[in-house]
Amino acid sequence: MLFPDYRPRRLRQNAAFRRMIRETKLSTDDLILPLFAINGKGVKNPIDSMPGHYQLSIDNLVKAASKAHELGIPAVMLFGIPEKKDPLATGAYDKNGIVQNATRALKDKIPDLAVITDVCLCQYTDHGHCGVVEGDMIDNDASLDLLAKTALSHARAGADMVAPSDMMDGRVAEIRNILDENDLINVPILSYAAKYCSAFYGPFRDAAHSAPKFGDRRTYQMDPANALEAVREVILDIEEGADIIMVKPALPYLDIIHLIREEIDLPLAAYNVSGEFAMVKAAEKMGWVDGKRVMMETLIAIRRAGADMILTYFALEAAEELRA
Ligand code: PBG
Repeated sequence: MLFPDYRPRRLRQNAAFRRMIRETKLSTDDLILPLFAINGKGVKNPIDSMPGHYQLSIDNLVKAASKAHELGIPAVMLFGIPEKKDPLATGAYDKNGIVQNATRALKDKIPDLAVITDVCLCQYTDHGHCGVVEGDMIDNDASLDLLAKTALSHARAGADMVAPSDMMDGRVAEIRNILDENDLINVPILSYAAKYCSAFYGPFRDAAHSAPKFGDRRTYQMDPANALEAVREVILDIEEGADIIMVKPALPYLDIIHLIREEIDLPLAAYNVSGEFAMVKAAEKMGWVDGKRVMMETLIAIRRAGADMILTYFALEAAEELRA
């Protein structure tokens, strides 16, 4: 059927028709809010490159999480900023570490809000890498034990789900094993399965003090040029026991989200990362874009590409917008 018989504009002429034919929906259920926990009391350090986000001491973290919960956001992703760092990231698996304490507080105060914990070593190592360093190499297998211990300590503190973001080979299996051996068979693993070595993490590394002191993350995070490898990474993680898989970043990798969606039937998450958020905020501040509209368009695009859920620093603002 061709013009003038077929006129696509017929179904765009009013809001009711547009709503009826809308193919993709964004709901507050799809949003996960990342939060940064730091030691202290009454601390709320603004993160300059991420307007509206803060390093929060546990008292303030609970307030931020309560707001998310009240708006209907189902889950938060917790990152910790420890007091001290060392070569073996002991703060990551300390029973009274920042994430463990924050998790206990959140589960105590807001039991219905799901707490997902980021499992990585980079905030806790003095060199800032996501694994154990041997000379100038990141030792894969030596890192697995520490990552597993970290996940176990998070789960013991009450984390509802653990999310390894280190990109060491074999870590999902190692984490599944240790959780199962400790009767934590019901704690799911959200795996950062296809995590790219991206410059879009810049603001996050300022927020979490996790920039590597030497070199970069190219020997463990994925090359931005690769797509087929992302499928292999995802399949590996599923075989190892991942319950949810994630693609990260989101916007420059919509093709990867789409590809994984076509291949895989597991729940799929996408991480709309700090740099993606910061760019929108910066352009909005300059008066160059309508920030709210760009936010909603970004989120719907990530959903349209195939993501079921989105980790995003826009979560609170988007939830407010969806409620209005
Ligand atoms: C830790 C981790 C990072 C992010 C999430 N977990 C940083 C990194 O890998 O360098 C980035 C999140 C963001 O940019 O919003 N490995």
